[in-house]
Amino acid sequence: MPSLELGPGEYVQHPDWVVMDIEQHPGVNLIGDAAKIPFEDNHFDRIEAKNILEHFSFNETVNVLKEWNRVLKPDGAILIVVPLIGAAIKRYLEIDHLCSNLQWGLMGGQRNKYDFHYTLFDEPYLKECLAKAGFVNTEVKSYYKDDFGNTCGIEVEAKK
Ligand SMILES: C[S@@+](CC[C@H](N)C(=O)[O-])C[C@H]1O[C@@H](n2cnc3c(N)ncnc32)[C@H](O)[C@@H]1O
Repeated sequence: MPSLELGPGEYVQHPDWVVMDIEQHPGVNLIGDAAKIPFEDNHFDRIEAKNILEHFSFNETVNVLKEWNRVLKPDGAILIVVPLIGAAIKRYLEIDHLCSNLQWGLMGGQRNKYDFHYTLFDEPYLKECLAKAGFVNTEVKSYYKDDFGNTCGIEVEAKK
């Protein structure tokens, strides 16, 4: 059952999988750009990509998802987590000024050149991108809440 974990950074969850990141971290066993996966079509049973899709340009989102779709086996599943903009907008309207939490949530941690966000997501936009890339049966698995109870992230699973 070959499976692929994308963009774990220092938080590798599946050390026995193919674990790909653009940076070397303990447990990463394939270094490279997740926009180009060096495997043949229909190779993996499962892909997990948590908090990485927003690190690609919004012009590339569907192409990146198509690449992930390409290496997934027919009926394989992908799990994706992305931040959602709603919580940041709501919080901004509540406090009426910018703070480092909002900068981080919207723009990425910016600790290195791969730690920047280039794409904003809400739930319909993520679902639309997945459908354009050929994924089906998209299901919301969970939502993440910020410290103020606002929904700031989403986990979805979809099938090829
Ligand atoms: C915010 S971290 C996410 C870490 C972990 N998945 C989590 O949810 O906490 C984003 C990760 O994506 C990686 N990354 C960014 N751009 C990438 C790319 N083009 N190809 C592969 N990995 C990339 C970064 O190096 C970083 O480890």
